[in-house]
This record gives sequence, C-alpha cells and structure tokens, in this order.
Amino acid sequence: MSWEETTRQKMLHLKLPTDPRWVDIAQMQIEDILVDHAYCEQKAASSCISLIVRFNDLEYLVDTLTPIVAEEWGHFERVMEQLKKRGMKFGRQRKDEYVTRLTDFVKKGGSRMDQLTEHLLLNALIEARSCERFKLLSKNIQDEDLQKFYYELMISEAGHYVTFIEMARMYQDPEKVNKRWQEWLTFEAEVMKSMELRGDRMH
Ligand SMILES: [Fe+2]
Ligand SMILES: [Fe+2]
Repeated sequence: MSWEETTRQKMLHLKLPTDPRWVDIAQMQIEDILVDHAYCEQKAASSCISLIVRFNDLEYLVDTLTPIVAEEWGHFERVMEQLKKRGMKFGRQRKDEYVTRLTDFVKKGGSRMDQLTEHLLLNALIEARSCERFKLLSKNIQDEDLQKFYYELMISEAGHYVTFIEMARMYQDPEKVNKRWQEWLTFEAEVMKSMELRGDRMH
C-alpha cells in the first residue's frame, strides 16, 4: 500500500476538508503564510516541551517527544530559510484563532491521564489539519521549491499525528480515547466551518 493510501486510511479522518480555494488565496500571500507557519512550528516544539516537563515521570513519553522537539525546531529553521531566500521578513506572531478555540475545548479536571489524553488529542488534531493543508500546498502551489518543501513536511507531520494518537491509546483506555477523538473531530469541523477563509493563515 502506498504512503498516500495508508495515510488516508489512518489519518484523514478530519470531518471537513479544507475549502479548495484556500491554496489559491494562500499563494498570493506567501510571506504571511510562511510567517504564520514558522510560528506553528515553534508552537509545536513548545507544546512537546511542556508535555515533557509536565509528564517527566513517563519515560516512553519523554523519550518519544524529545526527538520530536528537535524535528519541529528543524522545521522552524527550514521555514525561516524559505523566508530568507525569498527576501521576506519574519514578522510578528498573529492571533491564532484556530489553536485558541481548540485549546478551549480541552476538558478541565479529571485524572492526570485524562489531562494527558486531552493534550495528546489536541496535538494530534493540529498535526492532522496541518498535514492536510501541507498536502494541498504540495499538490497545488505553483512554486516548485515549496511543493517539495511542503511534501516533506506533510510526511513528517503525518508521523507526529500517528505518534500522538498511539501514545494516547497507550496511556489511557483506547476505547475512551477513540470516543473522545470523535468528539474532538466533530468540534474541529465546527471550528473550521465557522472560521473565515483567509490566505494569510496556515489554519
Ligand atoms: Fe512541524
Ligand atoms: Fe509536527
């Protein structure tokens, strides 16, 4: 089975595909997209660091997330290179409505493992949506260099998605995780549907 087929089976469980017009408007604002993307990679690295600090006693989690921090930071560096070689500037961080709204969906309270599940599912979902968007960019953007760049990142983020989901199912009753995952997917689709389509944001 090809990578595309296995990924479709495993991960494109997103309940609402991205509006296909997004790539067209995004590629007209590529500087904004790259700046927004750079911050996404920073946030991905820092969310893994937070999990390592908070769940320092979970050896498998620490060992698995440590190299992911390095990978996400590597992605940040690569986005910065893309900006530099186009003579574009690294601008300020913008308000990230998508991540803010998803973060508000994290259930408060419960056991420590319930909290871990929530954060792993939040991360998995952001990886899944990013992967979907990278795929759209890799297939449809006119800039060939960026097509290749986004193809490579799509594969990497798909791997992270699988890691987060599988880790959630390892530390918590898998059936409970699957049920909650469906709630997350439904909520994410509602967020996507209600958000304005903008070409200056990765999400
Ligand atoms: Fe990344
Ligand atoms: Fe990632």
